[in-house]
Amino acid sequence: MRIAVFSAKPYDQTFLTRANAARRHSLSFFDARLTAETAPLAVGFECGCAFVNDHLDAVVLEQLHQGGTRLVALRSAGFNHVDLAAAERLGITVARVPAYSPHAVAEHAVALVMSLNRMTFRAYNRVREGNFALDGLLGFDLHGKTVGVIGTGHIGLIFADIMHGFGCRIVAYDPYPNPEAKAFVEYVPLDTLYAQADIISLHCPLTPDTDHLINASAIAQMKRGVMLINTGRGRVVDTHAVIAGLKSGHIGYLGLDVYEEEEQLFFEDHSHKVIDDDQFMRLTTFHNVLITGHQAFFTQEALTNIAETTLANIDAFESGSGTLHRVVYDKRT
Ligand code: NAI
Repeated sequence: MRIAVFSAKPYDQTFLTRANAARRHSLSFFDARLTAETAPLAVGFECGCAFVNDHLDAVVLEQLHQGGTRLVALRSAGFNHVDLAAAERLGITVARVPAYSPHAVAEHAVALVMSLNRMTFRAYNRVREGNFALDGLLGFDLHGKTVGVIGTGHIGLIFADIMHGFGCRIVAYDPYPNPEAKAFVEYVPLDTLYAQADIISLHCPLTPDTDHLINASAIAQMKRGVMLINTGRGRVVDTHAVIAGLKSGHIGYLGLDVYEEEEQLFFEDHSHKVIDDDQFMRLTTFHNVLITGHQAFFTQEALTNIAETTLANIDAFESGSGTLHRVVYDKRT
């Protein structure tokens, strides 16, 4: 099958080419994000292969459809960036990689917790400058703290497991409690989680229900000094509200791997440009905020799985046999 791979970074090319070695697909790599401007690049390609910041709204899907695209193969688990209703109407099949390495994301969330707690990023810079003072680096024992997990799917449960290993108590909220959750995971209502957790980590998808779930009223219910971690999707957090929470001291630590306006920033080198997102730049001024640019998934294992599953989806679509991880349109999403 002819596949137009959008947002194709060198690492995507490496892993997809490797996974395609035993197959016969024709891969064309485009560095550009998929948008209405770049969609014409996919004319004549039966498959468009997209990542998290590609823009698959009704206009783009219509363009893909006109150009002969019948399959959108997402290299991500999340599919909030696809207008599934439009895809269904146009007869475009959407496939995704459901769980490429939940460990990668959960472990990165833990890395954010650990770094923020012990301020290792500040300590690193200090030591390089010959500054061995400890003021401002005071942490706390994780042991005995209460960790709130919002969304207990593949990633949330692994995160819960790791934090339980530190001796934390785990409270969780999920409208669909996971039968695979271990006995130490205490499901509680959201307001109880907010009231009890010292650390809150977001592992739910972006849906109409979770859009700006963490807003001013949610923050007001949290413990003063709470640590908030988001490796889910940017829009789950209302950035304006967390900036206010940081300024008032209500939020004590913020760790983000995702940001609601990340499309304009992440995965590219902007170091020689003026960044005009004032909200993002304000976030970077806080000493107790640690931001990574959507790298939680970025491990050898995850990239191998993403490439393998993406091409297996395409194989299954083409042959009509094998497992196709199809995203089914649900009016609620
Ligand atoms: P999953 O589908 O296994 O689990 C999601 C869980 O969230 C489910 O148990 C679901 O019931 C729950 N949920 C749904 N609505 C909820 C709500 N309103 N409140 C609380 N929980 C709710 O998904 P998985 O694989 O664990 O991934 C979670 C999210 O992590 C993805 O949707 C994606 O947005 C994000 N992600 C981020 C990556 C990164 O690199 N930063 C990489 C991969 C995923």
